[in-house]
Order: sequence, then C-alpha cells, then structure tokens
Amino acid sequence: MIKGCIFDLDGVIVDTAKYHYLAWKELAESLGFAFTEKDNERLKGVSRMRSLDILLEIGGKQLDDETKLKFAENKNKKYLEYILKMTPDEILPGIINFLEDLRSKNIKIALGSASKNAMTILNQLNLTNYFNAVIDGTKVSNAKPDPEVFLKGAEALNLKPEECLVFEDAEAGIEAAINGGFKCVGIGSPENLSKANYIMSGFEDITFDKIIELI
Ligand code: BG6
Ligand code: MG
Repeated sequence: MIKGCIFDLDGVIVDTAKYHYLAWKELAESLGFAFTEKDNERLKGVSRMRSLDILLEIGGKQLDDETKLKFAENKNKKYLEYILKMTPDEILPGIINFLEDLRSKNIKIALGSASKNAMTILNQLNLTNYFNAVIDGTKVSNAKPDPEVFLKGAEALNLKPEECLVFEDAEAGIEAAINGGFKCVGIGSPENLSKANYIMSGFEDITFDKIIELI
C-alpha cells in the first residue's frame, strides 16, 4: 500500500532546466564553444560537477580540479540569479492540486532531488510547507541512478521503499527508484522513461487514487 510520495524537483515540480541551460551556455560561450538545448538534455538529473564534466567533454576542454570548482561556482551564481526571480506562477500545472490531494488523504510527501539549491527553490515557490521531508544534493553522496536520495527520503518519512511512489522526469532518476525497490511514475515522454511503472505528461487532471489504479 502506498503511504508516501517522493518527488524529484527539477522537471517534475518546476522547469528549472531552462535556467540551468542558460547558465551553462554562458559558461560554454565564455570558453569559446556552443552549448545547445539538445546538449542540455544530457545534464538532466545529473549532479553539478558531473554536468560540468559533460559540458567540457562537449567543448573538448580539459581543466584542472581547482578551475573546475571555480567554474561550477560561477555557473551556480548565474543560475541563482534566475532562480531568485522565479515566482509561484512557474510551479508546473496541476502540482499544487496534487499535493493538496495527497495531504487530504494523509499521504506523506518528500522531496528527493540532486540539487543543492532545492531549499532555495522550494522557498522561492512557497512550497516548503507541503513537504514532510527534504532530501537534496546537500544530504547525499551518491548520485542517481544510485537510490540513496530516495532511500533517505523513505527513511525520513518512516516508510519502506515499497510503501512510497517516486515521481521522476530523468532516466537516471527512474533507474534510481527501481534500484531502490520503489514504484515510479515517469513525468514526460515515453522515449527515455519506458522503465517507469506509469508515464504521464504532467499532473493536470490526475488524482492520487487514479495513479494507484494505473501503476
Ligand atoms: C538536478 C538537475 O535536479 O540537479 C540537474 O536535473 C542539476 O540538471 C542537478 O545539475 C544539480 O543541481 P544544482 O542546483 O545543485 O546545481
Ligand atoms: Mg529532474
């Protein structure tokens, strides 16, 4: 029986990928190469430092660790400039109703995100109070597809993996959920998410009870 839901943040609750993209693109251009939206797809669900490695690989650049840290920090400063301008209007359609639906049914709610900016984003969107637990990039050492972030989320809710449902938009996130023994709903198109128990384009016109019927 499902007693808790664990949500990825970027791409599930809010579309921050476009801000990550703008900030990484600026860095790539400052290093003299182009970075496209298609390239950006490779960074979804991937940690900040791993994202930088992929970006440098695309540009054919090699940097020492100290310079990489400095660039990752600069990228994050730029990203935060965008994040701090976001308003609750940017919460993806249907999310608030769905969270309210869960609350009314006493289903516990956790966040399971790779982002170190998760708390800033939740606060900016006035969403923090919906969450019984927040596990983010500051609390895990193993990136998705390792299940650590979701296992810690379940533990924080005092539930077993089989009692929680994970919502994810990235392939690595779906794999992380499966690796941890969770049922999982993919948010997006079926191409990358085929391993999920159920795939939907978003949270509009869906209820918790309906999802339970479908998974
Ligand atoms: C994930 C995003 O949620 O968080 C990735 O999908 C991002 O694109 C990662 O790189 C880390 O985010 P942050 O905010 O800690 O740089
Ligand atoms: Mg995501």
